[in-house]
Amino acid sequence: SWTMKGFIQEAEEAIRRQVGEHGRVICGLSGGVDSSVAALLLHRALGARLQCIFVDNGLLRQGERAQVEALFVDRFHVPLKTVDARARFLEQLAGVTDPEKKRKIIGREFIAVFEEAAREVQGAEFLAQGTLYPDVIESVSYKGPSVTIKSHHNVGGLPEKMNLKLVEPLRELFKDEVRALGRELGLPDEMVSRQPFPGPGLAIRVLGEITEERLELVRRADAIVQQEIRDAGLYKELWQAFAVLLPVQSVGVMGDERTYESTCVLRAVTSVDGMTADWARLPYPVLERISTRITNEVRGINRVVYDVSSKPPATIEWE
Ligand code: XMP
Repeated sequence: SWTMKGFIQEAEEAIRRQVGEHGRVICGLSGGVDSSVAALLLHRALGARLQCIFVDNGLLRQGERAQVEALFVDRFHVPLKTVDARARFLEQLAGVTDPEKKRKIIGREFIAVFEEAAREVQGAEFLAQGTLYPDVIESVSYKGPSVTIKSHHNVGGLPEKMNLKLVEPLRELFKDEVRALGRELGLPDEMVSRQPFPGPGLAIRVLGEITEERLELVRRADAIVQQEIRDAGLYKELWQAFAVLLPVQSVGVMGDERTYESTCVLRAVTSVDGMTADWARLPYPVLERISTRITNEVRGINRVVYDVSSKPPATIEWE
């Protein structure tokens, strides 16, 4: 009968068969479940013949890079190279407000940065991807026909360009099986049950122009949302909960002073697969805490609004 332990053993053997006795594999880590599980499985099969690469694009959530490093380096001793590409992404995104352009720039820049880092890995012939079975049967495209990059760790075109062979150890699995596998491999529950986070990251949650300051505002607001949703015990019930920064300023008051600062949207939805979604009926006390904390703790945001739109006709993200 099929067991998770049996699957792991067979998957390890299959990886070693494909890669051979000396082959080296590069794996891009995104901070998400799929690439994390793929990396741990490959590490069990190959040890130091696996080299992971994590690109810090400056569009990550608070503490995300440190969490990836703590988990993979400190806990699992997986060889990991972190590329600090924050300045490069910011520079390319300067002045860009169109959501499709943002995605294109981020996708292109990711491939360029990843390729550079991958070239420095001596003797690597293989590239690992956390492709799942649903990705194999249909390639999802986000926000219209011109955007087909599924996420920032889907390095389309790179394997051929660099003459790398693909290793896809999860390609027969569904998402819930990947989560079960992750648990079996020792991934902590916070990682295994993580809500989806889009490849373009906070760039599509800063509406309008992306600057370091505006990214920092949404990052701090988002950290409060994550913490309060978890503390309220609602994290697993929601498909996603996050903050969006609007390019809208409004009048407020602080002490005796009039303020004129940014507006933040709180977005929380329930969904089965992300294709349709309903706005979450969050309890008033949770709404209140999130709003009070954001307006008190994040200087530059003086107003929080709650998005009560479902998908369709709205989408989950604002861009
Ligand atoms: P929408 O906003 O289209 O989002 O209702 C549906 C789901 O997809 C995620 N999403 C993305 N994920 N790259 C990604 O990797 C993207 O460009 C992207 N756009 C949306 C979104 O977070 C939601 O879970």
